Amino acid sequence: MRRTGWVLMPLRVFLGATFVFAALQKLANPSFFDASSPGSVQAQMHAVAPTSPIGPLVDLSLHAGWLVGLVIALGELAVGVGTLIGLRARLAAAGGMLLALSFFLTVSWTTAPYYYGADIVFFFAWTPFVAVGAGGVLSLDALLAGRHRSPRGTGGPGGRLERRALVGAAVGAACLAGLTAVLGRAFGGAAHAPRTTARGPTGGRPPRTAHHPATEPAGRSAGRAPHGMHPVTDVGSVGIGQGVRFSDPATGTPAWLIRAGSSRYDAFSAVCTHAGCTVGYDASSKRFVCPCHGGTYSARDGHVLGGPPPAPLARIKVALSGGKVYAR
Ligand code: FES
Repeated sequence: MRRTGWVLMPLRVFLGATFVFAALQKLANPSFFDASSPGSVQAQMHAVAPTSPIGPLVDLSLHAGWLVGLVIALGELAVGVGTLIGLRARLAAAGGMLLALSFFLTVSWTTAPYYYGADIVFFFAWTPFVAVGAGGVLSLDALLAGRHRSPRGTGGPGGRLERRALVGAAVGAACLAGLTAVLGRAFGGAAHAPRTTARGPTGGRPPRTAHHPATEPAGRSAGRAPHGMHPVTDVGSVGIGQGVRFSDPATGTPAWLIRAGSSRYDAFSAVCTHAGCTVGYDASSKRFVCPCHGGTYSARDGHVLGGPPPAPLARIKVALSGGKVYAR
């Protein structure tokens, strides 16, 4: 058993450290709990609900989105700490599996092929720890079990020690989480995503494969609707630098129309090229932000600025005519 524990040690450290890091990252980021931010847990839930097999459940819990975010962050912290110190290691692994499964059914559900998403890998990576826990290596569980078996151990001292260890670990984790949250809010100004100008319903269909031609600089051409194009909004109804959501006429999927200048409009698919979540628009930084895994794109030309997206957002052709903005 101990040999198995040593063999699994690299994976155990990786999983434990990753879950602790993921938890602290959420707790330290004020935007994560701010419903008006494109990077918030609420935006994430809103984006994945239409495509997730547990969408109705996600919809139902949307009214308490911040609570869902808090439960996820504290759950990750408990799983990570428990795994690293080997306390209730099998239970922690089961919690890790449950969290990974919930992420797989929501944010990673539209990832294709399925093995591109990390969450399904995390789900299966936890399985050996559900079976053997920490394997008796560098483990508080093993220490406590040894106390129980000692000649003096009638159960009382061991039970007290376990209770103390549990309370100590819980208090330590809570202090760490609280400190991180306070520091994140105090110094996390840069991480705070400004308000989005997103409007309208969300939808997270998979990205289309065909790229539309590059948009042409919007020039005013009097007359009727350009052939094959669909009206999006009135010219001037969107402020310069602002954006408005619409449905891509070619696919029916969400899209963004951005007014880049007094007579220049650009349009892009709002479907993230990583796993199909719907991106939000951050007007102050002129970026598109994906709520699922933090991918960012330039609103100037849709190219990837950061995160896991493998390709730019698809452009949508736009034109101005008769006081309206059209797209196709
Ligand atoms: S879906 Fe993963 S970054 Fe957008």
